[in-house]
Amino acid sequence: THKTMGIVGLGVMGRNLALNMTDHGVTVAVFDPWPDALTRFAVSLNGAAHGRVTVAETPADLVAALPRPRTILIMVKAGEPVDGVIGDLAPLLDPGDTLIDGGNSLFHDTMRREAALRARDLHFIGLGVSGGEEGARHGPSLMAGGDPAAYEASRAVLESIAARFDGAPCCALVGADGAGHFVKMIHNGIEYGIMQVIAEAFALLRDAGGLDHAAMAGIFRRWSQTDLASYLIEITATILARKDDLGDGPLVEAILDTAGQKGTGRWSSEAALDLGVPAPTITEAVYARALAAQKAERVATAAVLGGPAAPAEPAPAWDPDGPEVEAVRQAVLGAVISTFAQGLAVIRAGAQANGWDTDLAAVARIWRAGCVIRAALLDDIAAAVGAADAPGSLLQAPAFARRLEAAQDGWRRTVALAVMTGVPVPGLSSALAYVDGARSERLPANLIQAQRDHFGAHTYERLDRPGTFHTEWER
Ligand code: 6PG
Repeated sequence: THKTMGIVGLGVMGRNLALNMTDHGVTVAVFDPWPDALTRFAVSLNGAAHGRVTVAETPADLVAALPRPRTILIMVKAGEPVDGVIGDLAPLLDPGDTLIDGGNSLFHDTMRREAALRARDLHFIGLGVSGGEEGARHGPSLMAGGDPAAYEASRAVLESIAARFDGAPCCALVGADGAGHFVKMIHNGIEYGIMQVIAEAFALLRDAGGLDHAAMAGIFRRWSQTDLASYLIEITATILARKDDLGDGPLVEAILDTAGQKGTGRWSSEAALDLGVPAPTITEAVYARALAAQKAERVATAAVLGGPAAPAEPAPAWDPDGPEVEAVRQAVLGAVISTFAQGLAVIRAGAQANGWDTDLAAVARIWRAGCVIRAALLDDIAAAVGAADAPGSLLQAPAFARRLEAAQDGWRRTVALAVMTGVPVPGLSSALAYVDGARSERLPANLIQAQRDHFGAHTYERLDRPGTFHTEWER
């Protein structure tokens, strides 16, 4: 069991993880090619952890500072920089040493790197780290993928720095090679979906409900006392309450409405498409960010293309405790459950396709604290997917089927209202369509099969007898 770890890359995440480790009695040796990063790290240490930190000036110094078998955590930007660091370190290492990549790497890259290093008798762990800056410093959620023996060797350190839920560390091995990064990718996909549906609720409360930001902050605060209790709902309340230091009014309305993205949401959609598993709300959230980014285009279109006519009499503002607001809450709750169901289904399929023995209940458990999508619902999700007779989809778990039934009335009314008033709600509506599609015993795909057979003789099967059929439709 290592109580020593090397760290390469002292950006915000690497620095905070290093400080977190020193808090937990781990001896760390750090290296960053950028001298300023080393200086900044020394400043943030501020004399603490004296003797338990070695600042190395070269990769070779770093490797020399570590007892064997060595474990080195790489915290650099995903993509080529990771290959660069691996290329620098691997020749300096001995068989049995372990490299851990804690960035948001694409799981295909992690699988490739793991295989290449395994061929050199080196271990490689792809580690999903969630919780942003604060999480890294005081307790992230950690999703590891790799060889169990290598994981075992760093488990004590990883568990010591991880967030805790009811005393249990939010850290687990979720499968071999790319599994940790796959699970983290889907975590981020779910994060995109939940952020999008919350943003849509905000747009409805403001534009259809006529509520001001103080009222909306209060609403989100109250929602965080319900089944929706979660980190993202809480920070939304805080954000809506914040006044603008540089101008008048709420700060959120001074922020340019073009969302950024670094890739994990899009990769989640791509993985879902590759696996043939629907994840429409995650994908709509990616599209929504893409559309938001086209600001000039939107401004130009807004000038020439109108929406529904405004009512002659403007409707009165909603009562923050009234039924319209409760309907929006139900819509968000339904959409969040739908998004979790979609994400878990992609993880299940990804694990199957890649031969990972991913325990979905363990995934839900380590998401209960530390990560961006931590939510009260995850405790029940863990129980539902971990039950002996766990159904294939979260939607079938009795606790969630009942919740969705209870939420559907408000959810449907909210989506209908948005459609009639022209407020775009791709997240809320796609999440509802996913649920409605999933609970449809029959879908109109029979017509699609007939069309395929009509124009391309693609054949079809019948409900009432076995075999493959083709019809000469125009005869
Ligand atoms: C987390 C976050 C973190 C990061 C995302 C943001 O779990 O701590 O998901 O990984 O904030 O990469 O992604 P975008 O920049 O794509 O929104």
